[in-house]
Amino acid sequence: MTTKAPWSDGPLCYGGDWNPEQWPPHVWREDIALMRDAGVNLVTVGVFAWSRLEPEPGRHTLDWLDRILDLLHPAGIRAALATPTASPPPWFSLRHPDALPVTADGVRLTHGSRDTYCAAAPAYRDAARSIAGVLATRYADHPALALWHVHNEYGTTCHCPHAEAAFRRWLTGRYGDLDALNDAWVTSFWSQHYTDWAQVGTPRATQYLANPGQLLDFRRFWSDTLLSAYTEQRALLRAANPAVPVTTNCVLGDWVPIDHARWAREVDVVTIDHYPTTADLGAEEQTAFAADLARGWARHGAGHAAPWLLAESAPNQIHTAGRMHTKEPGRMTRHSLAHVARGSAGVMFFQWRAPAGGAERFHSAVVSHAGADTRVFREATDLGAALARLAGTAPGRVEASVAIAYDAASGWALRHPGMPRAGLDHPGEAAAAHRALWHAGVAADVVPPGTPLDGARLLVLPALYLASDATIDWVRRHVDAGGHLLVTWLSGVANEHARVRLGGYPGAYRDLLGVRVEEFHPLADDEEVPLTGGGTGRIWSERVHLAGAETVRAYAGGVLDGRPAITRRRVGDAYVWYVSTRPDDDTYRRLLTEAARLAGATPTCPDAPPGVEAVRRHDTDGSLLYLLNHTDRPQRVPAAGFELLTGATVDGVLTVAPGGVAVVREEPS
Ligand code: GAL
Repeated sequence: MTTKAPWSDGPLCYGGDWNPEQWPPHVWREDIALMRDAGVNLVTVGVFAWSRLEPEPGRHTLDWLDRILDLLHPAGIRAALATPTASPPPWFSLRHPDALPVTADGVRLTHGSRDTYCAAAPAYRDAARSIAGVLATRYADHPALALWHVHNEYGTTCHCPHAEAAFRRWLTGRYGDLDALNDAWVTSFWSQHYTDWAQVGTPRATQYLANPGQLLDFRRFWSDTLLSAYTEQRALLRAANPAVPVTTNCVLGDWVPIDHARWAREVDVVTIDHYPTTADLGAEEQTAFAADLARGWARHGAGHAAPWLLAESAPNQIHTAGRMHTKEPGRMTRHSLAHVARGSAGVMFFQWRAPAGGAERFHSAVVSHAGADTRVFREATDLGAALARLAGTAPGRVEASVAIAYDAASGWALRHPGMPRAGLDHPGEAAAAHRALWHAGVAADVVPPGTPLDGARLLVLPALYLASDATIDWVRRHVDAGGHLLVTWLSGVANEHARVRLGGYPGAYRDLLGVRVEEFHPLADDEEVPLTGGGTGRIWSERVHLAGAETVRAYAGGVLDGRPAITRRRVGDAYVWYVSTRPDDDTYRRLLTEAARLAGATPTCPDAPPGVEAVRRHDTDGSLLYLLNHTDRPQRVPAAGFELLTGATVDGVLTVAPGGVAVVREEPS
């Protein structure tokens, strides 16, 4: 990743997706006036505008986009100009039926929504390059252009003949020959041994459980294929003007076949879309986790702390399963500034103006169906003013001395059929460890394996199922350098091909941890097993043998009664822990706090009252303390310095308003 982001030392980015193609020109002018009122300085334009840019194959209608960029520039608003390749027009489907996606069941999809293409189909790739090239030629030197936004949320898969052929080519590149593939996928099982590449296909619907290695590689193949679709557009955009940064917005969730860590190296700034999925405090927990995840990808991509950008978030709604929850006053600002606190170079919304129709007509917007005389618009304007006061404070380094490992492929592998329990969830376990620390006020980085761990006193591996030799080496180097380690159940059980590492679990780490796991005892959804010292274990339990470690907590009841549940071993001056079950939230919080304390990782603001989130960032001017009050009462927090949002001097104690945020430029101690 390069570091040419134009916002690095300027104002924070503020704006969102703007879809002027949905509106007549008088609304464009009204929108731009409102954007200026709200302090907007960046809008993402044209994400789904392909059919308006190329209504017929090869006929381009760009006049409206010329006018849009020409209106934005004098208004001081810059464009993140999108390539519209996530939504090919209907003519594309009729002209290239072979480029429409096929599901695992063999059903060919058609247009009518978005994302109806196979990214391995030559016709799609040609059409995508063509429209990207047209935009590059026309706009690469436009003064309003700040950033290229390629596509939207890459994440589709396909099983058509093009995809199958491309999968075989990818596998040939990965394994060289069929012997290596047969070995990695353990095709000796169920007579799956391949003797000709023509026999190897995508994991289409089959009679019973599919091969785990094949499923895992299919995800990796799509990550790489989609990445090449991105990089070929990037090449065209960069060729037209190398000074303009290029990115694509990432959607989160382990259903997405994207290895974000790998992609982070290919974008000029990591961007994420973030939408919490629960209306309770879980929304704040998820926000902190997503932002730390994005920061970890940015650091992984750059090799050092780097800014990233919240490319989409919802101004006034949280979409829970089956219901849109309206965000309470102040919540949008807290969510937005929680991202900024953790290194986002700004705040972008989906979307600027709510559409009058279409599938997402009731989705969140700054300018709603009611217009701009609304609570949400006033809050957005206040947020714009707050961000302006924070200009020049990004990016900096977030203070954290715990690192939680996160690996896309481990998440995919645990989803495979035939695991000892359904619902195994590496991202969920990473989030659970993060949540436990978040409630204890201890800041954590979330990093892909291999990321430099400078500053991390404690490394947590949360159900990090896959362990390549390189990952094992990364963990060992951390411990050899005196770092503490906490490994949870199912970590290091398999190698990178999902082949089990034999000799007792967890094959990758048992010697280091001083344990040997003989047998799994997965728990039912509603089952709990008591632990000595209080608390319970959930989801999972194991028959653990000590082989150098000592028992910290034992199972107290059931078939594992009296056997080790949580163990610890001393390595030099550090501890390495093994946790063979998922402790209940309170027990997990206490356990991780203790492991962090012993490692020298303490809360960011030890005297902050419960419900106040504290994030400290260091930059060249010193340190900034973000305080987010998630309670409905004023909260007093020890702090000293200068509060940037109000301009007040803080002399020892700061009162943060109910649901409010404060940002203190701290006095050097
Ligand atoms: C995002 C997507 C947007 C819009 C939004 C709705 O994931 O990129 O285009 O669909 O969700 O919440």
